[in-house]
Amino acid sequence: MNLSAAEQRILDGEEGEGARKALELVIALGKIYGAEDLVPITSAHLSGVSYKTIGDGGITYLEHVSKESRVRVPSTLNPSGMDSVRWREMGVSEEFAAKQLHIIGLYGSMGVETSCSCTPYLAGNIPNKGDHVAWAESSALSMVNSMVGARTNREGGPGALAAAIVGRTANYGLHLTVNRAPTVVIEAEIDDDLFSHSLLGQAVGSRIGNGIPYFRGIQPDWEEAKIMAAAMAASGAVAMFHVEDHTPEASEHSIEGLEVIRLTNDDLRDAQESLSTVDDVELIAFGCPHLSRREVKEMATYLKDKEKRTDVPIWFCTSREVRDSLPAEVAILERFGTVLADTCMVVTPVEGMYSRTASDSAKACNYLPTLCSQKVHCDSFQRLMEVVL
Ligand code: F3S
Repeated sequence: MNLSAAEQRILDGEEGEGARKALELVIALGKIYGAEDLVPITSAHLSGVSYKTIGDGGITYLEHVSKESRVRVPSTLNPSGMDSVRWREMGVSEEFAAKQLHIIGLYGSMGVETSCSCTPYLAGNIPNKGDHVAWAESSALSMVNSMVGARTNREGGPGALAAAIVGRTANYGLHLTVNRAPTVVIEAEIDDDLFSHSLLGQAVGSRIGNGIPYFRGIQPDWEEAKIMAAAMAASGAVAMFHVEDHTPEASEHSIEGLEVIRLTNDDLRDAQESLSTVDDVELIAFGCPHLSRREVKEMATYLKDKEKRTDVPIWFCTSREVRDSLPAEVAILERFGTVLADTCMVVTPVEGMYSRTASDSAKACNYLPTLCSQKVHCDSFQRLMEVVL
């Protein structure tokens, strides 16, 4: 590994034990993937926040790291296991809440912005094209690679935190132009709505694994792109995509000779059927990834003259920033369910509350069975709302 003089000083411990250990981790990860050097980063987004997923071992690790380290670049935080304010309403236990707040406090003490959202790119943490960053959270990192043209690998929690502490990451994978080329062309002939993009992501990820798709036939807006990116990252391991005449790097690579996969609404129906395992549900959950301002506004517009006729609980998961900025729209959604911030249906201990959950997010419908012991029903916002209207 070629290190600059500044990096060597960190490795020699001249900037503290915390920085030295973090750089050792960054270098070790780089060696595994054949990196020759490090690259400075402009931001980080950290996962490993929910007490449900990191447990007491994660707390011990963070207590240790936070004693001797602070982040050097602007860093945001993924959703935690509960709404920091409304956790009692969610049915979260006192013990869980105490540990969760401790975890968030540890990140805060390292200088991390404790935003607790998986859509940081909608709330200020938005890189520039060409920036190198270290982002965990598979949907968010795919969005900044693809829709912004920033460069990040699919970081894990400890790797992203170490990169944030030293302000550098190892220069391999999607940091290198050669690895950002498309590997397969997807010709999509699908309906132009949010749920179809969710299912398209499901169909593509399950077919191409960790490939880089080049889409033709769609022009997704940010909301469609984020739900599609999330699904591709969950059903496969897609960390980047291109859309013809749409995304920043789509014209920078040749697609000559690539395999072409054609997907239609029939394939989307198959994807939906592969996800749904139950019809009657106990909980309906939207906002995976977290709902944007536009989505909250559109949902409120759709619901404002309607009435809820059943008592099936509904969660609308969003960021604190969006919830706080749209009080009138949030008040409308609250007539139908609970608008939750800081958390989501997957990373909260939903399995202690419900066993059958519906969502319009293919990502949520991938993870709810495996991480939350849920049977799931996958359908569009409008069709799921018909259950309660
Ligand atoms: Fe975000 Fe939770 Fe989905 S972190 S992408 S809402 S699983």
